[in-house]
Amino acid sequence: MSVRQDLDRRLDAYFGQDLAVLGNPFPLYAALLQNGPVYRYGRGPATLINSLAGVKASMSGTVPLRNNGWRHGEHADGVLARLPERQRSVAIEILDYESSFISRVDGAEHRRLRKIASRAFTARRVELLRDAIRRHTNELLDEMTANDAPDVKLHLAERLPLRVIAEMMGVPAEDRDRIFGWAVAISHHFSLTESSLTVAVVAIDAFRRYVFAHIEAIRSGGDGADLARELLSGGEDEGLTPEELAALYLLLLFAGTETTTNLLGAGFLRLQTGSRQWQDLVDDPALVRPAIEEMLRYDPSAHYLPRYAVEDFELEGYQVRTGESMLQMIGAANRDPEVFERPDVFDIHRDNANAHVSFAVGPHFCLGAALARLEAEVMFSALVERFPDIRLTVDTVEYEGSATQPSIRSLPVRLS
Ligand code: HEM
Repeated sequence: MSVRQDLDRRLDAYFGQDLAVLGNPFPLYAALLQNGPVYRYGRGPATLINSLAGVKASMSGTVPLRNNGWRHGEHADGVLARLPERQRSVAIEILDYESSFISRVDGAEHRRLRKIASRAFTARRVELLRDAIRRHTNELLDEMTANDAPDVKLHLAERLPLRVIAEMMGVPAEDRDRIFGWAVAISHHFSLTESSLTVAVVAIDAFRRYVFAHIEAIRSGGDGADLARELLSGGEDEGLTPEELAALYLLLLFAGTETTTNLLGAGFLRLQTGSRQWQDLVDDPALVRPAIEEMLRYDPSAHYLPRYAVEDFELEGYQVRTGESMLQMIGAANRDPEVFERPDVFDIHRDNANAHVSFAVGPHFCLGAALARLEAEVMFSALVERFPDIRLTVDTVEYEGSATQPSIRSLPVRLS
């Protein structure tokens, strides 16, 4: 079998959501990198950018690529065309709605939305959340202690980010479970199965109606929702419309929950299974920040981002054509051997781990990066301090989700 045949066969499994490949796509990424910085996968159809330099250049905002590659470009067209009719129309309905998300628009409209959305992520606001993150972490750890079958994924990694977003949005505690249900339903639609799409469309609608009711409550004098008030304020151009607020909150729900859950879950798995990594962190808790950068490098929550070209241009010696879909393979770039020595070794002492692109770079750099880092810092510091002897009780873990966002199902532990 030729190298190309072998890569295509493995990419078929990857994009076909083969769970064995989703759980460990790294040998495939290594083979792609060995082949070159850019790979044309004809059956996608899509062109994969694998090298760190290539991914960074493609994210820089200086090449003619547009962000909404989930909806437009040959890859999106191919994926949609392969779906049965009913699934396709639901997928298009969701993708059209999501096309207004800050992460999917470009140029002047993106700059306007980003300027307003940044009000939610000022250093002051993020720092104000530190105490809330500590409180929620400790509450969840207390609940875990009382649980007969404690699980770091189900009882901690999956719950903390949602509680933090709910805190940001001013959602009352009694509504958290409902929001959590919607967030899970919406995040699963990436797998594009009929059931995940149907459930997601219902959840999106329910969530939108929830935000509109929230706005009504503010307008009729309700308090406790100062973020929404701030995002809506300023009038046309300076503030969000109610529909834009609903879209931003929805994006925050799925950009900020499952991604962070996967960082916390995968990070815990690597600390526990990597040679001496957990013990090193217990011995020197100040290593927590470099450890988080290594977690982000090693398991990026978004493994790839799709873009599409609106003009011909050259990237890393490859000639890109208008309409071509370019997939920024973050998972491969983070293990580029040109940049990271022994890239497949998880090492919290690595001195250049923060060269990763897990939060993207350029105009769409993740607005929640500081918040995600803070959540991880607080959670791992608390775990190390309260449960230095915690141990994962299984040898292998199972994955679910999609190629772009694989997720560990469960992380059962013994606390001491
Ligand atoms: C480990 C956790 C996280 C990872 C790995 C991550 C990753 C990313 C990536 C790769 C992008 C670029 C998306 C694109 O260009 O298509 C992005 C954008 C974004 N993220 Fe995150 N994210 C994380 C957590 C969060 C959190 C906690 C929030 C908010 C609560 C958040 C809010 C956003 C927003 C609003 C954008 C859009 C920025 C823009 O397009 O200008 N993220 N994130």
